[in-house]
Amino acid sequence: MLPLQSLASLAAVVTSYHQAFAAPAPSDPCAAIAGKLFVLPADVLACERSFPFNETLRQNVLTTVSRVFDFYTFENWYLDSPPPFQESTNNIRANLTRINTTQYETDYDFNIDLYDFTTQLNDGHTRWFTNCYTNWQNILPAPFINVEINGTQGVYIAPDTVDFISSIGTNYTDLLDEMGFDWQRLAGAQVTALEGQDPYDYADFVADTVSGNFLDHGVRVNSVFSSYRISGTDFSQRLGDLAGPTGVKQTSLEVKLITVNSTTEETVSIPYIASFLGVAFTDQASYWENNCAATPDTNGMDLRTSGSSRVSTATARRRLAQGNIIDKSNDSAVGLPPQFIPTAPQIDGSEGVIKNFILPDNQTGVMFVGSFEPDDFDQFQADTVAAISAFQSAGISRLLVDLTNNGGGFVCLGQFLFQYLAGSKIGYPGFVSTNRANPLAQKIVAADIALGNDDTITFYSADNWAFLNDTEMPESYNYIDPSLPFTVNSVNEPTSQRFHDTCQLSFTQTIPEDPPFLTENVAIVKTLGNCASTCAMFSTLMNERLQTKIAVFGGKPGENVEFKGMAGNQVLEWADIDTEIKTAGLKDDHLAPPDLLVSGDFRHNWRTAWSWLNESIPIAYLSELPKIRFPYTLETYNDPQNLWVFA
Ligand SMILES: *[C@@H]1O[C@H](CO)[C@@H](O)[C@H](O)[C@H]1NC(C)=O
Ligand SMILES: *[C@@H]1O[C@H](CO)[C@@H](O)[C@H](O)[C@H]1NC(C)=O
Ligand SMILES: *[C@@H]1O[C@H](CO)[C@@H](O)[C@H](O)[C@H]1NC(C)=O
Ligand SMILES: *[C@@H]1O[C@H](CO)[C@@H](O)[C@H](O)[C@H]1NC(C)=O
Ligand SMILES: *[C@@H]1O[C@H](CO)[C@@H](O)[C@H](O)[C@H]1NC(C)=O
Ligand SMILES: *[C@@H]1O[C@H](CO)[C@@H](O)[C@H](O)[C@H]1NC(C)=O
Ligand SMILES: *[C@@H]1O[C@H](CO)[C@@H](O)[C@H](O)[C@H]1NC(C)=O
Ligand SMILES: *[C@@H]1O[C@H](CO)[C@@H](O)[C@H](O)[C@H]1NC(C)=O
Ligand SMILES: *[C@@H]1O[C@H](CO)[C@@H](O)[C@H](O)[C@H]1NC(C)=O
Ligand SMILES: *[C@@H]1O[C@H](CO)[C@@H](O)[C@H](O)[C@H]1NC(C)=O
Repeated sequence: MLPLQSLASLAAVVTSYHQAFAAPAPSDPCAAIAGKLFVLPADVLACERSFPFNETLRQNVLTTVSRVFDFYTFENWYLDSPPPFQESTNNIRANLTRINTTQYETDYDFNIDLYDFTTQLNDGHTRWFTNCYTNWQNILPAPFINVEINGTQGVYIAPDTVDFISSIGTNYTDLLDEMGFDWQRLAGAQVTALEGQDPYDYADFVADTVSGNFLDHGVRVNSVFSSYRISGTDFSQRLGDLAGPTGVKQTSLEVKLITVNSTTEETVSIPYIASFLGVAFTDQASYWENNCAATPDTNGMDLRTSGSSRVSTATARRRLAQGNIIDKSNDSAVGLPPQFIPTAPQIDGSEGVIKNFILPDNQTGVMFVGSFEPDDFDQFQADTVAAISAFQSAGISRLLVDLTNNGGGFVCLGQFLFQYLAGSKIGYPGFVSTNRANPLAQKIVAADIALGNDDTITFYSADNWAFLNDTEMPESYNYIDPSLPFTVNSVNEPTSQRFHDTCQLSFTQTIPEDPPFLTENVAIVKTLGNCASTCAMFSTLMNERLQTKIAVFGGKPGENVEFKGMAGNQVLEWADIDTEIKTAGLKDDHLAPPDLLVSGDFRHNWRTAWSWLNESIPIAYLSELPKIRFPYTLETYNDPQNLWVFA
């Protein structure tokens, strides 16, 4: 009876979805959902699609996007992406032309087309986020997992579904109850088909169209499923891109399954309910004003102007380079059910994004590094030292570093952790790097030199970098003109000269000369491979320079999973590159992108990191497979401590 009821309510959902398109909007479709945290997807779509297409806004957004792509270090790699990353091949300029000439009915349709196109580049550093339409998360009360049971890997609904979904709150579960949808009984069910396809084929489809962020297909397949993580400074569970995608598209998912203790296969339409992550509104006009129109923070600012609020935080020290992904699902993170929180003794240095444990064997220490993006840059370094000292005084002889769902953060904290574990004798703790020598970039560096702009207000000025002998470049040094010739996929794409980072200048802790643990006694587990940006750079350094054992869990049977999810280098948000242009006094240049009129971010990968193994290949495009691969089991899929003990 329950499935029938749920089908009936779904039919109602589908009907209202069609009505939103067929009939003129009854009253104000945004007022109808105002003040609610959870809303039926069809009602969200009715509000989102009530804003007509506007050519002025398209030209504004596309001009900005197109001129920011000029700075994107991987643009021409996309023309023919090298294997095993060939599925991301994309003619970026052809797609921009297509989007410029497509007829769209609504502003939503235009923005989602641009969002999908950039998402499908699979580079978490290079994406269009339109706040108007990505400030919703669609949530299915059925997080999927990929585990091996009795020797066979399969897709299941997480057995801890009831604990997990309940913690989203009664506002969410009450809506399911109102629909008469019994979601609790699905916990632990075996999934035999998704939308009429083999579950793994459907996971491939979601990985190709929804997930984005990671160049490697195998890593994206893993992010389809539910997994543990640290969000902020707490243990959390990530729903996965099938049960918790960004934005609202589907109203339900058709799942063939066999519930626990049953032998009968049944088909269930599981409803999505959308969660609102944006700024409160009361009607259509205030939805636009609060969520879609540009805000004072959307665009960059001229940091030469004194008295600006952003300068006060930036002037204390050099600007800190970031390499991270944006995972919108993080905004609505809920805690890991208590039975999965590690019970091993937690030791010093665990208050922030790193959690440190001594496993029951009393020989193995675990550092779960949840991110490289702490609130406090220096505290991360102090926490690292505190943890390693505590491990040493406890007689720990081997270290396991867990990087699961680490979305990256400060480039220099990745280099700090590497340097601390490798010892100072290893020398330079980063990669050789370049950015694109396009004409506007060359003008920016020249202007920064002429204006005396330094590393406290710009990322382009030379004193951010060092020569390859690790001498810091003088502020007046022009490292981008003359450029170095570089050709990729037969396209001439000159780069800056090659340079090193200067992270050691921001290390506030003393680095030991020798590694604190024998490097062969350090291993990394990344339970999904989805370790992004700074995290990928950290693990690539560990792999390329220390040959650290790296294990990846999960993945589709028969398909590879790389250990580095997405390994660009430094990312600039739209406001960052705009700030560079304005601070160089070049906003009026004909190559400069205009200010955005809408609230959004077009971020891009601004620097390339070249591999130590082959300095003509960006680490992003070098396939480096993990030494070990394990399937998840019911004991490990969501239980960090069980997984560490197993590893
Ligand atoms: C549920 O939503 C109402 C507003 O619709 C809000 O006042 C209340 O705080 C919410 N409850 C929870 C537990 O979030
Ligand atoms: C399109 O957007 C621009 C910029 O916000 C606005 O000035 C203009 O009135 C809009 N056009 C229409 C037809 O709504
Ligand atoms: C879009 O196409 C029109 C017509 O060809 C052109 O004038 C405009 O510059 C194009 N916009 C962008 C952002 O390329
Ligand atoms: C445009 O982008 C889409 C992904 O959104 C891709 O499938 C398609 O191949 C691209 N078009 C071209 C001409 O590369
Ligand atoms: C696994 O094998 C055991 C013992 O044969 C059996 O009781 C159990 O039902 C099996 N589980 C699944 C999910 O097949
Ligand atoms: C997740 O949220 C935390 C806290 O807001 C933030 O520090 C972190 O950078 C976010 N991570 C991602 C991957 O978005
Ligand atoms: C399945 O059967 C076992 C053994 O009878 C029982 O302990 C368990 O509660 C049942 N689970 C469900 C979800 O019915
Ligand atoms: C580990 O240390 C704890 C505390 O000293 C002790 O109770 C436990 O027996 C030790 N375990 C092993 C395996 O030695
Ligand atoms: C490092 O290299 C730069 C550029 O080649 C050179 O000017 C500088 O003298 C070198 N510094 C040292 C200490 O060798
Ligand atoms: C480095 O990569 C380039 C480009 O793929 C290739 O031509 C070259 O043979 C590689 N060199 C080595 C030493 O592997």
